[in-house]
Amino acid sequence: MVEPVRFPDIELYRGWGAPMRTECEIHGLELTQGAIPATLAGALYKAGPDRQYPSGRSDDIFIDGEGMIHMFRFKDNQVDYLSRWVRTERYERQYAAKRSLFGRYRNRYTNDPSVAGVHMGTANTTAMFHAGRLYALKEDDLPYRIDPETLATLGRDDLDGAIRAETFTAHPKVDPVTDQLLAFAYQARGDATRDIVFYAFGPDRRLLNEIWFEMPYACNVHDFAITDEWIVFAFFPLITAVEVLKKGGSFYQWHPDKSTHVALVPRHGSARDIRWFEGPAMSAGHMMNAHREGAKVHLDLCLYEGNCFPFFSTPQGEFTAPVPPFLTRMTFDLTGNDRSFERRRLMPNVCEMPRTDDRYQGQPYRHGYVIVNRGMDGSSGIGHVDVHTGELDFWAPGAGDGVQEGQFVPRARDSPEGDGWLIVPVSRVSQMRSDLVILDARQLAAGPIATLKLPVRVRSTFHGTWVPDTALQSGLFNYRRS
Ligand SMILES: [Fe+2]
Repeated sequence: MVEPVRFPDIELYRGWGAPMRTECEIHGLELTQGAIPATLAGALYKAGPDRQYPSGRSDDIFIDGEGMIHMFRFKDNQVDYLSRWVRTERYERQYAAKRSLFGRYRNRYTNDPSVAGVHMGTANTTAMFHAGRLYALKEDDLPYRIDPETLATLGRDDLDGAIRAETFTAHPKVDPVTDQLLAFAYQARGDATRDIVFYAFGPDRRLLNEIWFEMPYACNVHDFAITDEWIVFAFFPLITAVEVLKKGGSFYQWHPDKSTHVALVPRHGSARDIRWFEGPAMSAGHMMNAHREGAKVHLDLCLYEGNCFPFFSTPQGEFTAPVPPFLTRMTFDLTGNDRSFERRRLMPNVCEMPRTDDRYQGQPYRHGYVIVNRGMDGSSGIGHVDVHTGELDFWAPGAGDGVQEGQFVPRARDSPEGDGWLIVPVSRVSQMRSDLVILDARQLAAGPIATLKLPVRVRSTFHGTWVPDTALQSGLFNYRRS
């Protein structure tokens, strides 16, 4: 006999956050406004967390939960929607036990003894498409390979034996022009290890370069940024300590007394030539882009002048007040030996989940896309920011409603930067269901050019990727920069 399923009455699981726990298959979403652009053909894949079973704990956090992979398939002037659990090792063990077996977020010492040694990844953070293969990713485990058509889980995957680390980032950069995959793993030899490794893979999945080095402390490295010559890793003082985990504590603690460190790693070189920079304690989850200007490297990120994860306390148990993220440019000068760096705000609006026209990742660029918070009611909208001027073009679905991360799709494979569409899941909170809207990426304020209605909630997605039909067929994106 097992216990009935009961979720705790905590804020996380109320209203829009109520666990959905449902796989969906809808053929032909209802078009309630506008027209689907005729040349939009491909699949938008996204990943997000849901809760398979209640953990029985009151300290669950929103970034935990089993991975659900979602597909919006644009074909024949219709859009189909499919969502499937990622059958991770964690999911399968809980499925068999009919209950939760995993405890506090990433703390293996709080798990049921029956799952000691079982891989804990939830595959809940993003979808990655590279060299014809689709994966679901979570940064504390290896990728899970997914069937691009059915979303069936094909298994935990070490990229043909290339990944020797125990983890793999959920923010890889797949260059849609060269079809190279640039990625990394942090805490790469296990919880609280300082090892980090950078990987570059060719369009045939062959490993081109692998650079191992040590972080200044065993911290969170959620994202990174690339340029043509340098890879940018920022180390913020959200730090893991094994002795804290053994006592059942949180995976990260915020150390406001410790510095931020930034490593510029030579993309085609070795760990010997890494350049280090240092500044006061701050943090970020997400980077928009980076580029090189002569001997300077610019990193644009949604920067918090404090702790970006206020649900992780200091070692003394103090929870710091939330601080807002601002799109900020950090500049690193490689000409001298000065380890400090400059930073300046690119836009006055609070924003998160930055994206670009990904053909311009690592290159000088102008157009970024962000979620912009509108106020205290939790509503949000989608913004286009001109990073040259700081100007914001913005659309919001309405009071109380919100948007999830937008996906830019170029109008054609060689369109100018920023000429294309933004596909955005909209959370119709008041109606407890979602829409998928398509906007002209150059005129967001004009409102959607198409709205597709879902009769169900897309509870939460973090990140994803657009794969055009041509790439689904050939395995390669093969875009051009204009
Ligand atoms: Fe992320």
